[in-house]
Amino acid sequence: MYNIIFCAVLTFHIYIYIKDRSVKLSHKELIDLLQRAYSAEKAAAFAYQGHAGSVRDKIQKAAIRQIEEDEWNHRREVLQIMNQYNIPVSKWYEFRFYVIGKAISFSCYIIGWFMPFYFAGSLESGNVCEYFRMKQFFNELGIKEHDTILYEMGIKEKEHEVYFLSMIKNNKLLPFFEKVFKWGKKKSANNIDMEALEPVETSDIYCKRK
Ligand SMILES: [Fe+2]
Ligand SMILES: [Fe+2]
Repeated sequence: MYNIIFCAVLTFHIYIYIKDRSVKLSHKELIDLLQRAYSAEKAAAFAYQGHAGSVRDKIQKAAIRQIEEDEWNHRREVLQIMNQYNIPVSKWYEFRFYVIGKAISFSCYIIGWFMPFYFAGSLESGNVCEYFRMKQFFNELGIKEHDTILYEMGIKEKEHEVYFLSMIKNNKLLPFFEKVFKWGKKKSANNIDMEALEPVETSDIYCKRK
């Protein structure tokens, strides 16, 4: 009997010890960015479900389905980082981005072919810097172990942006939309040039805050 009590007390102490040793991040902006990105990846994946469902072309459908898969992977990768620092999933962001994702998904069936491609590209353009900013925030705290995964996620978002732009770059509606919504052939929300890509070590020139 005493043995069982002893084991239970010991296990409890080991649990507390391990729990206390897990690193906590003292960076409010980074925590918020991780929580938001985690939930926004779900919104993006939902949106691409509607987008893939609404296009007729099989090649376009397959490409968008692959992008949806990329977003689910990002969500898993962001969660792994959050778990490492005991960062909880935000219930508010989960709810908010669930509604946004489902609304965009539905809208793809009624707003025609051009707009889902345009706004997907525009949103991806903004997502790119979220991952580079996370990397910069971690580095401010002296943490370098997530550099490669965050770099890869940022570049993947850039690839998504490039794909969506390639689909609409010759569309006659693009000049008007680019003027109004500030994204297109000449305007991007990030400064990444895929033709002259910086490696992870020198990627801090990307997405620098002014
Ligand atoms: Fe993503
Ligand atoms: Fe993306």
